[in-house]
Amino acid sequence: MTSTIQLTNIQSETVSKRGLPGFVFADNDIYQQEQDKIFARGWASIGCAQQLKKPGDILPVTIAGVSLIAVRNKNGEVGVFHNVCRHKAAPLVDAPCNKRTLVCPYHKWSFKLDGELMGAPRYYGRDNTPISAQDKADKGLIPVRFAIWWDIIFVNVSGDAQPFEDFIKPLDELLSGYPQHDIQMISATDYRGDVNWKLAVDNFLDGYHVPFVHSQACTVESVLEQEDLFLSEDIVGLRLANGASDKPAKTAKQLPHFAGLPAERQGTQQWFGIFPNTLFFVDPCWVQTIVVKPTGVTSTAETLSVYVTSEDAASDEYTEEQARLSDVLNEVNQQDIELLDKLQHTRTSKVADQGNLVQAWDQVNMSFHQMWLRKMQCQ
Ligand code: FES
Ligand SMILES: [Fe+2]
Repeated sequence: MTSTIQLTNIQSETVSKRGLPGFVFADNDIYQQEQDKIFARGWASIGCAQQLKKPGDILPVTIAGVSLIAVRNKNGEVGVFHNVCRHKAAPLVDAPCNKRTLVCPYHKWSFKLDGELMGAPRYYGRDNTPISAQDKADKGLIPVRFAIWWDIIFVNVSGDAQPFEDFIKPLDELLSGYPQHDIQMISATDYRGDVNWKLAVDNFLDGYHVPFVHSQACTVESVLEQEDLFLSEDIVGLRLANGASDKPAKTAKQLPHFAGLPAERQGTQQWFGIFPNTLFFVDPCWVQTIVVKPTGVTSTAETLSVYVTSEDAASDEYTEEQARLSDVLNEVNQQDIELLDKLQHTRTSKVADQGNLVQAWDQVNMSFHQMWLRKMQCQ
C-alpha cells in the first residue's frame, strides 16, 4: 500500500526538523494501522472512574476499533469488558446507562456487573431447567486488561503491553508528593472535532500557542520559563514552576491546594502527554484530564474532566470557584477545538511538509511525533 511505503520512508531527522509529514494526519490506511500498533498494543485511556458514579453505571467506548464497557459493580469496583455477548456476539450496551444486570437485547442472556453469566432463557430448549453452573462457567464477559491511575481508566486491548506500573512509573514518581486518591471530579464535558487525534495531542503539548490563542490565560512572558520534560519513551510534558494562575487578591476565595504539597511545587503547573491519547494537567489546586478518542481519521471525540483536590474543595462551600474553574478550562478547550478544525486542512497538505519546528518551543510535541513514528515503523 502506498501509505505503508511512505511510512517506512519517513526519516526521523526530518521529523525532528519539520514534524511528521502531513499525510499521516489524513490517511485512512495509516489510521487503520494505528488501531493495532498504537491503540491496541499500548495503554490507551477510555474514560474516568468517577464518570461511573454509582454501582451499575456503565460507560460504552470504542478504542482500537473494539467495543468495550467500563462498569462499576455492586461492590463499587470498576471493571472493563468487551461489549460483546458470549452467545452470538451482539453488543450489550450502546449508550451510558445504569443497570442492575446486563441483558443482551438479542436473546436475553443476562450478565452480572462483574461479567459472570447469570441466565440464558430456555438454554436447554424444551427442557426448561435453568442453565447449569458448569455451562455458565466459561461464558462470562471477556475482561480487558486495565488500570486506574489519577482516576483515568487505561486499557491494554492486546493484553501484552508492559505492566502498567512500569509504563507510568516515571510520571508516578514525579508526582509522588500529590495525593492523587483525594481528587474529586467536578465536571466532565464531551467535545467533537473534525481533526485527526494526533493534532489534538500535539496541540496540548504546544506551550507556545497558549498566550496567543488563550490570551485570557497568560502572557508570553509568563510562559518563557517553561521547562520541557522527557520522562520516558511514552511520556513527555511541560512545567511552569511558577505558572499557577490562581493567585487571587487576598479577599477572594480560593480553591484549596493539594494537602502536603512540597514547598517547591506550590506554584507549579505541569502537563503531560501519556502516549497515545491521554492528556493530563496538574495545578496546585486542580487537575484536568482529556481522554482523546479517535472516531475516524479526521474526527475525534474528547472528554475533558476537571477535578479539585479534596472532598472539602468539592463541597458546596466552593460552588462558585468550581464553576469558574470549569468554565475557564472548557473555554480554553473550545478555543483549541476551533483552531484544530481549521488546522486539519492546512497541516495535512503537501506544503505542510515545509514547516519548521523551533528549538525553543517545539521539542516536546516533536518528541510525541517521534514516539508515534517509532511505534508505527515497528513490525
Ligand atoms: S447474542 Fe446475546 S443473547 Fe444471543
Ligand atoms: Fe490550547
